[in-house]
Parts: sequence; C-alpha cells; structure tokens
Amino acid sequence: MKSQMHKSIAAIATASILGGAGGAAFADEEAELVVNGEIEMVTRTAAPAHISDALDEVLSGWRFRSDLTQEMQMDDFDNPGMIWVETAAELWGGTPEGTEGKSCMDCHGTPDEMAGVKAVYPKWNESAGEVYTLQMQMNACRTERMGAEAWKTDKGDSIPMEALLASVSRGMPVNVAIDGPGRETWELGGRELYYTRTGQLELSCANCHEDNYGNMIRADHLSQGQINGFPTYRLKNTKLNGVHSRFKGCVRDTRAETYSPPGSPEFVALEMYVASRGNGLSVEAPPRSATKL
Ligand code: HEC
Ligand code: HEC
Repeated sequence: MKSQMHKSIAAIATASILGGAGGAAFADEEAELVVNGEIEMVTRTAAPAHISDALDEVLSGWRFRSDLTQEMQMDDFDNPGMIWVETAAELWGGTPEGTEGKSCMDCHGTPDEMAGVKAVYPKWNESAGEVYTLQMQMNACRTERMGAEAWKTDKGDSIPMEALLASVSRGMPVNVAIDGPGRETWELGGRELYYTRTGQLELSCANCHEDNYGNMIRADHLSQGQINGFPTYRLKNTKLNGVHSRFKGCVRDTRAETYSPPGSPEFVALEMYVASRGNGLSVEAPPRSATKL
C-alpha cells in the first residue's frame, strides 16, 4: 500500500513544476519562532499520545516555510495578516448589532479576556449538545444572544474575528479535548475522514501529511497539515484563509468531489481531529504565510 502511495506522489511531483528539493530556500532546522521578540512559540514537540503510533513529533507549518516567509511571522509589523486582526478589534467593540443592540465587548470585555479560548476549540458545547468550532460559538452568540445574523463559515467577518481570538492566545499550547462527549465527533474526524482515501488519486490526508511531510509536491514543501496557525495568510490569495476552506482545497487536489462544504458536520469533525493532532504546539495565528517565496 505504502509503496503504491509513494508512486502516486512521485507521479504528481514529476508531472508538475518542481519535484525534488530545489526551489525555495528552506530555513535551517534549528530556527526558532519568537514573535515580536517576546512570544516564544513551540513549533516542534513530541506527538500527542493519540497519534504517537504514526508520528514521533509534531511540527508546525512554520517549520516548512522559506526563510523569508518565516521572518514575516516574527514581527507583527511585517505580518500582512495583522491587518485583519485590527479590523476585527474594531468590530469587537464597534457598532452594536442585532435586536439586542450589543457588541461582543458589551458582554465579554476586551479581547484579552478571551486568552486561551482558541487553544481548546473545537470543543463540546453542553447546551447545544454538539461540538462547536470557534466560528460556530461566535455565531451562537450572534443568533442567540445578540439577535443578529449568523456569519458565513470562513467568509466575511468570521475569519478576522477568529484571527483576533487566536491572536490573544498566541504562544499557548493547543489543547483540544479528545475524551468526553465530543469523542464520537473526534473519532469520525480521524477514522472516517483523515484516513480515508478520496478522489481519482485515492489519497487520504494521512498519505500526504503523515507519510510524506518534508517532501516536495509540485512546488510546495509538504507539511504535516497542522492548523495551530489558522486562520492563515496565504500569498496565493493574499488574504486570511480558514481551516475548512483549506481542507476543501486539499480534497479538491485529490481530484475528488469535496464531500461537504465549509461548515458541514464532516468538516467540523475533521477540524476537531486535525486540531488535536497539534496538541502541544503553540497557537500561532493570526497567520503565518504561504508556502512559497
Ligand atoms: C449578550 C451577551 C453576549 C454577546 C453580545 C456576545 N457573547 Fe459570546 N458568550 C456569551 C456567553 C454568556 C457565553 C458563554 C456561554 C455559552 O457557552 O454560550 C459566550 C461565549 C463565547 C465564546 C466561548 C468562550 C469559551 O470560553 O468557550 C466566544 C468565543 C464568544 N462568546 C465570542 C463572542 C463574539 C465574537 C461576540 C461578538 C460577535 C460575542 N461573543 C458576543 C455572551 C455574549
Ligand atoms: C495530494 C497531497 C495532499 C492531500 C491528500 C492533502 N493535502 Fe493538505 N496540503 C497539501 C499541500 C501540498 C499543502 C501545501 C503545503 C503545506 O502546507 O503542507 C497542503 C496544506 C494543508 C494545510 C495547511 C497547512 C499550513 O501550515 O498552512 C492543511 C491544514 C491541510 N493541508 C490539511 C489537509 C487535510 C485535513 C487533508 C485531508 C482532507 C489534506 N490536507 C489532504 C497536500 C495534500
């Protein structure tokens, strides 16, 4: 099975621009990510117990970027993703919305009050009786507490707001609970989705991000597909990108019909599972940047 897989990766790589380790200059193994000279990020650590059969260590996407891209994440002034964080900070305490005429700040205080929240999402929500992504939680506040309209998944204001909440958790370890009532969703994300081969290429997430990280695929340096840095700024589309949109792109690359749109239960489960694979890495968002350059 495995050798067959390597063949298909090789085929994709040869048929494309690069393949092999040429192209971008990758930063040295010893580089460490410290943001603004003060926030020390864990970008490499022992794999959490639940995936230690498959991986010895987990690595942030940052470790797979070129020197230049790595540097862009070291200083907020150089980091294009910070623009969206600033927009969201205005929105947080801005014009009251909905039938209740409230802003996020009216109930939650300053965004700093949310430190640590991003690190534990997706998580089980007791009153809803389901696993909530951060975006679902924000929408629950909007619809149930503000009387405002829900934001669309990975679109409009939801992404900047998610980036703002991530930014106040920077440097804290991802710690998604995999036990308790959310377990079923987590298992669905792992067993049914992460390890299932899709599309004409018959590749699962694991085939690329577990078996082949570190290799080149087309012009990309394949990472472990961690989401501790999301929402992420990509040079490719020069904006912040959400987790589900990224998953959708990867599934499309296997030449599959995507099984579900952003926001669907499948992607919620996959997000929970993938997030938990990064337990122990630091929350890095808002962004790091794209794969090339
Ligand atoms: C009317 C008050 C109110 C407003 C306005 C409000 N929230 Fe909330 N929010 C709550 C309450 C109460 C909770 C905790 C209870 C729950 O789980 O629903 C909560 C929970 C949250 C959480 C989860 C915190 C955690 O520890 O898991 C997030 C994130 C959040 N809100 C974001 C937002 C955002 C973003 C906005 C603005 C778009 C907002 N909220 C507006 C009342 C509000
Ligand atoms: C054909 C190989 C392939 C498959 C299969 C694949 N991906 Fe990817 N993925 C890539 C490439 C190439 C990139 C861009 C380089 C990188 O960041 O790893 C990427 C990027 C990502 C990223 C962004 C990582 C970052 O640091 O910005 C995430 C998250 C991700 N993939 C998750 C998934 C998930 C979940 C699946 C299964 C639904 C999946 N991928 C399937 C090739 C693949």
